[in-house]
Amino acid sequence: MHSGSILIIFTLSAILYWIAAATLNYVRYEKTRAEFGCPPLKAYPGWDKILGLDYVYAMLKALKEDRFLQFQTDTYSARGSKVWRANFLGNRMVYSSEPENMKALSTSQKDAFAVEPIRVANGAITPFTGRGVSSSDGEKWQHSRDLVKPYFERAGFANLNRLREHVDRLMSQIPSDSSTVDMQPLFQRWFLDTSTDFLFGETVNSLDHPERGWPQKDMVKVMAGLRLRLQLSSFLFLHRDKEWFAACKRIQGFLSHYIEQAYRQLEEEKKGIPATYKNGEPRDDFLWTVARHVPDPIELRTQLTGVWIPSNETTSILMSNTIYALARNPRVVQKLREAVLEYGDKPLTFEGLRSINYLRWTVNESHRLYPVSLQTVRACIKDTTLPTGGGEDGKAPIFCAKGDIVHCNRYLMHRDPELWGSDTEQFLPERWEKARPMWSFVPFGGGPRICPAHVMVDTECSYAIFRLLQRFKAIEPRDDEPYAAVMRVGPSSKYGCKVAFIPA
Ligand code: HEM
Repeated sequence: MHSGSILIIFTLSAILYWIAAATLNYVRYEKTRAEFGCPPLKAYPGWDKILGLDYVYAMLKALKEDRFLQFQTDTYSARGSKVWRANFLGNRMVYSSEPENMKALSTSQKDAFAVEPIRVANGAITPFTGRGVSSSDGEKWQHSRDLVKPYFERAGFANLNRLREHVDRLMSQIPSDSSTVDMQPLFQRWFLDTSTDFLFGETVNSLDHPERGWPQKDMVKVMAGLRLRLQLSSFLFLHRDKEWFAACKRIQGFLSHYIEQAYRQLEEEKKGIPATYKNGEPRDDFLWTVARHVPDPIELRTQLTGVWIPSNETTSILMSNTIYALARNPRVVQKLREAVLEYGDKPLTFEGLRSINYLRWTVNESHRLYPVSLQTVRACIKDTTLPTGGGEDGKAPIFCAKGDIVHCNRYLMHRDPELWGSDTEQFLPERWEKARPMWSFVPFGGGPRICPAHVMVDTECSYAIFRLLQRFKAIEPRDDEPYAAVMRVGPSSKYGCKVAFIPA
C-alpha cells in the first residue's frame, strides 16, 4: 500500500478513536453525575468539543498578551457562575472560586484529589525533579512532609538575626537621594540570597555580586517551562525547548554543590568535627536538617527541589507587590510608619513583629489583593462531589469525575465583592480589624498541605517592611502603569516596582 494511504488511514483511525473515547467519557460522566444527584455544570461554550482548541487558544492568547488575570475574571463572569467547566486539550477542567470548595478539596475531600497525576505521572516535572513534598501524595508525601516539618517549625521564629544581614544589604542598594529604583529585581536577588542561606546554609550574596544571581534567572526559565509543561498535559511531547533542559541541568549542578558539601560535613561530624558556619555558629539550615536522613544524593536533591520550587518567586513577589501598593497608598505608609516608630528601639523579635497589628494587616491586604499563588490545582482521582456552585442558584453540590482537573481560584475569591464588600478592589489594611475570613482568604492554601513556610514568609516580609519604614518616611510611585501581571510562576508585576524611598 502507498505510504500516503497508510498515513491517511492512520490519521482517520486516530481521529475516530479520539471521538469514540470522548463520547464514551461523556456518556459515563453524565450517567455518574446523575447518580450523584448533581446538576450539570455551566460550560465554556467552545466549538471544539473534542480538544477544546478554541479555549486553549483564548487562554494562550491571554497569557501571551499578559492578560491572564483579566481572562480569569472574564471567563468566570461570562458564565455567571462561580463554578464552571471547560475542555482543555481533551481534559475536563473544573474551575471554582467558592471558598467551601477550596475547603473541601483541601480537607474533608482531600483523599479524592492528588497532585502526582498532574505533576509527576505525566512526566511534566521529571526532567527536573521527582516526587518531593510538593509533587507527591499519600505515604511518600507524608514522609517528605515529616522530613521538612522540623525546619519550618522553627524557621519562622529563629531566622531574624540572619535575616538582618540580608535586609542590611538590601537597604544599602536603595538610593538615599529619593531617586527612582526598581525594587523588583532587588527583591529577587535579596530573596535568592536569603533562600540560599536558609535552605542550603550558604548565601550566594547576589545583592553584592549581581553576576551570582544567575540561579534566580535560570529558575524563572525552569519554572516557566514547568508551568507550560503542566498545562500541556498529554501533549507534553510538543515541549522541546533546549534552553529549558539546559537551565534544569545548570540548577541541578548548582544544588549538587550544596549537597556534596553537606555530605562532606556529615562525614566530618562522624569524626567529631562539628559542622559550623563561618561565624562559628552550628549549622541549622534546611539542607542540614534533612541531609542526615537522606543518604541518596538524587533523593536528597528531589527533597531539596520539593521546597526550592515552591519557594521560587514567592516572598520576593510578595515584597514587590506590597511596596507597589504602599507607594500608591501614602495614607497607609504614614499609619504604618507611626506604628513602626511607636514600637521604638526594642529588640525586633518574632513576637514583637506580630504585635504590630497594622503591619500584619498590611501584609494580609497584600496577600489578599495580589495573591502570589493564583490557584490550588488538583487532579480528581475518584468520582466525588464538592459542596457548592452547581444548579441555577449556584448552591447545589458539583460533580467531579475521576480524571477531572479542579482549579480553586484564590485571586477571584480574594476580590469577590460578595465576600469582601463593595470596596474589595481597594488596598485597605483597616478591613482586617474586623475581617475574620476562613476559607475565603487562603494565600497559603489550607489543610494538611498548607504552605509549611507561611510563618517564615510573613515574618520575613514584616521584618523587611519594618526596617524600610524605620529609615524612610514615604514611598513614591515612579511610574504611571496600572498593575499588570505577567505569568511566570504566579503573577508578577509586568512593569516591575519603580518607586522612590524618601529618607526620614
Ligand atoms: C509569598 C510566599 C508564599 C506563598 C503565597 C506560598 C503559597 C503556597 C501555596 C498556596 C501552597 C499550596 C498549598 C496547597 O496545596 O494547599 C504552597 C505550598 C508549598 N510551599 Fe509555599 N508559598 C510561599 C512561599 C514559600 C517558601 C518561601 C517556601 C520554602 C522556603 C515554600 C514552600 C512550600 C512547600 C514545600 C509547599 C508544598 C507543601 C505540600 O504540598 O505539602 N513556600 N505554598
